[in-house]
Parts: sequence; structure tokens; C-alpha cells
Amino acid sequence: MTAPTTITRAKAATPGGICYRVLMWEACALPPESLEGWKQKRSALLARMRDAGVKGARGNLARLNEELRELSARAIEAPLATCAQAGFSFARVKELADALDAEGEVLGWQLTPCSAELLAELHGEEGIDTLLKRLSTTTSEVTWCDSPLVEVLNAATARERLAAWQQNAEENDAESDEAEEGSTPFHHVTVLAREAVEALLPAEGKVLVDATLGGGGHSELMLQAGATVWGIDQDPAARRAARRRLAAYGERLQVVAGNFRNAAELLRERGLEQADGLLADIGISSPQVDCPERGFSFLSEGPLDMRMNPNAERSAADIVNSASEAELADIFWQYGEERASRAIARRIVQERAKAPITTTTQLADLICTVLPRKGRQHPATRSFQALRIAVNDELGALEALLESGLSLLKSGGRFAVITFHSLEDRAVKRYFDRVTRPEIDRPEWPAPRPNPEYTARQVFRKPITAGEAELAANPRARSAKLRVIEKL
Ligand SMILES: C[S@@+](CC[C@H](N)C(=O)[O-])C[C@H]1O[C@@H](n2cnc3c(N)ncnc32)[C@H](O)[C@@H]1O
Repeated sequence: MTAPTTITRAKAATPGGICYRVLMWEACALPPESLEGWKQKRSALLARMRDAGVKGARGNLARLNEELRELSARAIEAPLATCAQAGFSFARVKELADALDAEGEVLGWQLTPCSAELLAELHGEEGIDTLLKRLSTTTSEVTWCDSPLVEVLNAATARERLAAWQQNAEENDAESDEAEEGSTPFHHVTVLAREAVEALLPAEGKVLVDATLGGGGHSELMLQAGATVWGIDQDPAARRAARRRLAAYGERLQVVAGNFRNAAELLRERGLEQADGLLADIGISSPQVDCPERGFSFLSEGPLDMRMNPNAERSAADIVNSASEAELADIFWQYGEERASRAIARRIVQERAKAPITTTTQLADLICTVLPRKGRQHPATRSFQALRIAVNDELGALEALLESGLSLLKSGGRFAVITFHSLEDRAVKRYFDRVTRPEIDRPEWPAPRPNPEYTARQVFRKPITAGEAELAANPRARSAKLRVIEKL
């Protein structure tokens, strides 16, 4: 069982008056050199403010505060190791969280095994002193860092922070619920592992983005080659599995929750402006398919879900039970190339008029009544694939990543995409052709013109596909295509 690394709580309170943000650190939470460096910066800043007679730190203190929070967040990526080191167990964190819950003036908090960050609306400095005292006595076995950071926030900033905490709290709840249920081992065989990673030229000092972290197979090879990796995934189970598998690489792995359609913003928000390479291994991972509760597979009974991000709004059941017959037929035809798309859509509409279609096997059985089984492929294969692509807007996300990917790269940076579906490969090929052609031509033009989008070169003339040995070991690799470009 994995414990959540952060427990966040925020009340739906609307702060009206002065709010305080309090940050307390377990003395051994960070490597001593990081904490020492931070303390020196803080003393220097406070001294500068004192010398200049400046009262407000113009956000500098907040930035330092954030820096420390990030350092700590990275340090607790390996939760078990750090817990043991910090001696501040999750059970204790939960206990503390419950105790604080009883405090009327505390609006929200974030607790990690080695830090406590509170937001409180108080009547004056004395209130803060009381709160700090209570916090340190409730956690008497924890040696707090000697200088808790206390900041005054105006109501608007406090509201913004609370809203962010509230969102985190919802995510953490979802993650810890899954953890409570016991995390299943994550077995995903990485496709075109060596080919894709080598194409990115990983090396010490390079920063690579793995936009589809999954179980961390590609990331591991990048880390082994010495690179720093920013891994994005929208699936909390994948993020947890990758964190566990790659914990030994410490701060060289940065895990980012989110959809790669927003990769540029997600990374810039966290301070990464440009990288040396970006990989996207499009599609789903084996554990997503193999887990009946995720609802991807027609082979096992489960809710008709198919969301890679369990917090996404629309599940497969929502589409199946609410899209029009024409929309359903379009989905099956466009994303699944299912020739019986109209008949399947018609059947769904007839059935759902009697009762909603809520499970994977219900839908699979219904498809079998339209399409009798022929050959080795299950009749529901194409329709399930189509629904999954629609639920997760996989083509929309890929298009957005293609459009923004190069902007994230330095000159000479490489952009590699592995696809498993002809529609996806077509999108990648079209985009890569568009940006690697020095000139464009039209029948009505007297001569070709320079291409304003010319910003990259093709690394391989043809897509890379799996070799015989990989195909023999992993039949899933048969449709994989790797395309790579390099930013000029
Ligand atoms: C094929 S797996 C990646 C496997 C990984 N390369 C490895 O070797 O372990 C694809 C992963 O990308 C994630 N994913 C797919 N689409 C995504 C998107 N639009 N944004 C973020 N993650 C996405 C899935 O949740 C899944 O974990």
C-alpha cells in the first residue's frame, strides 16, 4: 500500500480578514545542504530588507518559501525512505490533520511527512503564536526547523490558495482511496524502448520530457543515461507506479500530474522553459486495460468508464447513454474504422431506451448481437478502441501536443512520438512534414515559396518500427511507429 505524499485539506470558507500562512519544517526533512542554502538565502533577504528599511518583501519571501516547498516535495518523492528518516509517520500526519480540523480558525493545510503548511484567519499576532504553540505541542516528537515562516496574505491571495488546496484535496482523496484499496503491480512492457530513448540523445545534464510517463519504462532509460526527466501522466496509478519504480533517481525525476495537451503550461508553471527532448508514447498502458474497474476491456466485467484521468468529466457510459445515434456511429467509424458502426449505434440506442448501459460486458454482448464473431478478433475490439479514443479525446490531445511540442525545445532538441493507430500516425506524419519542409508549393503559384513553419528536420526518413525480437516478445509492438524530428 502506498501512502499519499501530501494530505491537503481546505474548508469551503471565504476568508474576509487578514490571513496568515505558516510553514513549518521537520529539521531533517531535507538534505542538510539544501536546507542550509535556503536558510542562508532567507537570512540574506531579511538582512537586505532590514538594511533598506523595507517592510514588505515584494513577493521575494513567498518565492523563497515556494522554493523550499518544492525542495521538500522532491525530497518526499520517495515517501517511505523519507518517512523513516523524518520519523513523522503518515498515521501521525493524519492525526495532526484531524486535530487541526477541529480548529475553527484554520482554513486549510497541507501536510507532508516533513512539513506543515497552514492557512489561518486570525484576529492578531497572538492567534498565530497560539497556533504555532499548539502545532508544536501536538507534534512534540517532531523537531521542527528553528524558523517557521509566517506570512500575511490578503483575502484575495488566501482565497486563491484555498481554491488550489481544495482541488489538491480532491485529487489526494481520490489517490488515497485507490491506495487504500491496494495498488496492483504495474506491468507494462515498454515499446521501442531503446530506439525512442536513443533518438533523444540522453546524457548527463540534459533535460528530457516524458509526456506519457506510464510505468516509467522510457523514463528509466533516460535516467540511466544521466538525464533529468520531467514525466507527465494524467493517470494517478501510473504516476504512483513510476514514482515507486524510479525513486532511486531522486530529484532527477520530476513527476507532473496533468494532460500532455497542456504540457507547455504545466512545465512552465513549474519553472521548466525549454528541454533537450520530448517523448510521447501515445495510448494506454497495459495495467489500464488489465484493471477491470477502469472499464477499458470488453473481456472482464467492469463499469463502462475508460477514463485515463479518473477525474475527467465524461466516461464511456456518459457517451454511450447520451450521444445521439449519429454521433455514436461517427465515433465507431472514425476512431475504430468499424464497418458496422451504424448498426451498432442503432442497437445501442434501442437498448438504452430500456435501461442505461453501464458495464463493459453489457456493451460487448450487445455488440456481439450485431456482429457475429468471425476470426480471432473479438467483435467489440474496434468499438471499444473508438470509445476510448473519444472518451479521452486522444486525437485532440495529440494535436495540441504536436502544436506546442517544438516551442518547449531548445535548438537541437528532439521531439519523438510513438503511435499505435493509423489516425495518430497520420496526424504526426502530417505535422512533422509541415514543419520540416523548407519550401511549400501550390498549383496556382509560379514557384515554390519559403515555408514560414520550417523549424525542424526529420531525424529518420521513415518511421522506426519494432524489430523481430521485440515483436516476438511483445505482439503489442506490431503497430508501433516512431517518428522523430529535431528543432533547427
Ligand atoms: C503507452 S503508456 C506509456 C508507457 C511508458 N512509456 C512506459 O514505458 O512505461 C501511455 C501513458 O500515457 C498516459 N497518457 C495518455 N494520454 C495522455 C495525455 N493526453 N496526457 C497525459 N498522459 C496521457 C496514459 O495514462 C499512460 O499511462
